[in-house]
Amino acid sequence: MKRWLVNAALTAALAAVMTMAMGTAAFADGWMQEGDKWWYAADDTGESWYADGWKWLDADKDGKAECYYFGADGYLVAGTRTPDGYDVTADGAWIENGVVQTWAPKGPGETMPEGNAKVVSSADGNTRGSLSAQPAAAGRYIDPAQPMVALTFDDGPQMTAGNSIMDTLAAYGGKATFFLVGDRCAARTEELKRMVAEGHEVANHTYQHKYLQNLDAQGIQYQISQGSAAIEAASGAAPALVRLPGGNNNATVVANVNYPMIQWSIDTLDWKHRDPQKTIEAVLGSVQDGDIVLMHELYNETAAAVQTIVPELVARGYQLVTVSEMAAARGVQLMPNQLYYSFRP
Ligand code: NI
Repeated sequence: MKRWLVNAALTAALAAVMTMAMGTAAFADGWMQEGDKWWYAADDTGESWYADGWKWLDADKDGKAECYYFGADGYLVAGTRTPDGYDVTADGAWIENGVVQTWAPKGPGETMPEGNAKVVSSADGNTRGSLSAQPAAAGRYIDPAQPMVALTFDDGPQMTAGNSIMDTLAAYGGKATFFLVGDRCAARTEELKRMVAEGHEVANHTYQHKYLQNLDAQGIQYQISQGSAAIEAASGAAPALVRLPGGNNNATVVANVNYPMIQWSIDTLDWKHRDPQKTIEAVLGSVQDGDIVLMHELYNETAAAVQTIVPELVARGYQLVTVSEMAAARGVQLMPNQLYYSFRP
């Protein structure tokens, strides 16, 4: 869903730029961004928009619609609870029992249920909805031409460090990827649901953190499928990525992991030295556009390092994105049975 949001925003922003440049009505209805706020142009002039209620959107993209909540001011309500008591994700979609609610047609002729959002027009004396809306340099708009880095945290969930890491990311609008061990998830649903609600990516680090190169095909498949099932049951989100314990692989592992396998380009060795300063130097001393950084969620020393790493990366102009966001922004279609190390421009 987030990918659609980002792509739609790019399209809308480009359309807006073209409109300004050419002075003609090359505007597309769809998602628009002002600063870190989103709104949805309800017509192809950008002079009217959805406000004050739920609206099913984006069904044209993948056949599935998601319901988004717009405030009375027309901006997407995100990462909070709506006046009618539903939680919404960091992207503004309706989340119920930990699951983003979607709608898809079940048969011919079935039509999308109506949302209750109003269409508000600038002709009604509203001042918003300007065609000059531009994406902000920071925020959920991901600019593929600007530097980005994917911070990844393995071996959790671990509530103390995990929540601290999320607090830091939230303060700077960053997102990360958490590679979780399946059999550690059932007792830690609160932390997992926070990850999903705040727009982080939850991904699979096997069911029991077994070194897969020591297992046969059946054992490998069990570790992957049980890991995904446990993470989805606890978080409400189905993992799309796998990280192999230790990164260890051989031909049998690669053939039997039917997910993209995400390695890394910066290894902080945080688990080994447990020294925040060394973790900070490992990242800030070598980071490049498109890097995937390996850290571990288990350690307070890592959470402490993140408090320095995140603001410094943002100060250097890096967008802090999930692995899936980075692949999408760089035009890489992630494939199962493939290893990935970075997404350079
Ligand atoms: Ni691990």
